[in-house]
Amino acid sequence: MTRPPAPHEIGLLEGIATTRAIRRFTDEPVSDADLAAVFFAATRAPSGSNRQPWRFIALRNDETSRRAKRLLGETARRMWALKRRGDRYDEGSGRRPDSPKARMARSMQRFAENFESAPVIVLVCFLRYREESHFEGASIFPCCQNLLLAARARGLGGVLTGFQAGAEAELRELLGIPDEVVLSAAIPLGHPEGGHGPVRRRPLREFVYQGRWGETPDWAVDPPGTRHAKAGPPGHRTFLDQGAGDGA
Ligand SMILES: Cc1cc2nc3c(=O)[nH]c(=O)nc-3n(C[C@H](O)[C@H](O)[C@H](O)COP(=O)(O)O)c2cc1C
Repeated sequence: MTRPPAPHEIGLLEGIATTRAIRRFTDEPVSDADLAAVFFAATRAPSGSNRQPWRFIALRNDETSRRAKRLLGETARRMWALKRRGDRYDEGSGRRPDSPKARMARSMQRFAENFESAPVIVLVCFLRYREESHFEGASIFPCCQNLLLAARARGLGGVLTGFQAGAEAELRELLGIPDEVVLSAAIPLGHPEGGHGPVRRRPLREFVYQGRWGETPDWAVDPPGTRHAKAGPPGHRTFLDQGAGDGA
């Protein structure tokens, strides 16, 4: 029997296809060496004109970080409670404890309840250098994905969240963040309880066209054995879902 590859032995494409959103962590601390490796990868990301407009605040275990993490935990709980109601997690199949919807709700509930106990929470900051534009995310979110992929390679895990949005003013004051800096994301990081595994998305043929809108090429096929998932929160359908394939 061949042993499964260690995280650092996983190839790039395999890593991309198996980097899940990790929301449960063990208590094991994240080492300085792991953080250095993860931030090195994050800061290799592309950005417009190579401006490198990202700054990161690693919240670990000092008193100020613990206060910032608590603020984030409180907003995580508030925002998840709103989403739980808004996206009707407790209705329909959500009433069955074994349904994917109910399982997702349990996992999110536990995540929100324990948000501040992640060994590290990375506050991702963006140095805005011109008027706000819909395109500016393109110079900050690639570094977040690099960070998560590098975390995977070091045996860690995490997930991009928007929970910082609920405590911006308090976080700015507590952490001395200047007004012109945008708080783009809060990424908890740690050693996963459980593991990574194949991410599930919709079939490739639903995403890729050739030559013109809606023309699916023959080559747009998933590797054998790929399992799929619908887009969006459970039970949510967009106009693009009408008549769409067999996502499960
Ligand atoms: C822009 C963006 C915002 C997100 N916000 C949150 C969030 O606030 N809370 C959370 O738990 N996950 C958040 N996520 C994580 C997504 O839920 C997750 O990436 C998605 O469900 C896919 O998970 P998977 O890769 O494990 O399949 C966010 C992801 C992105 C890209």
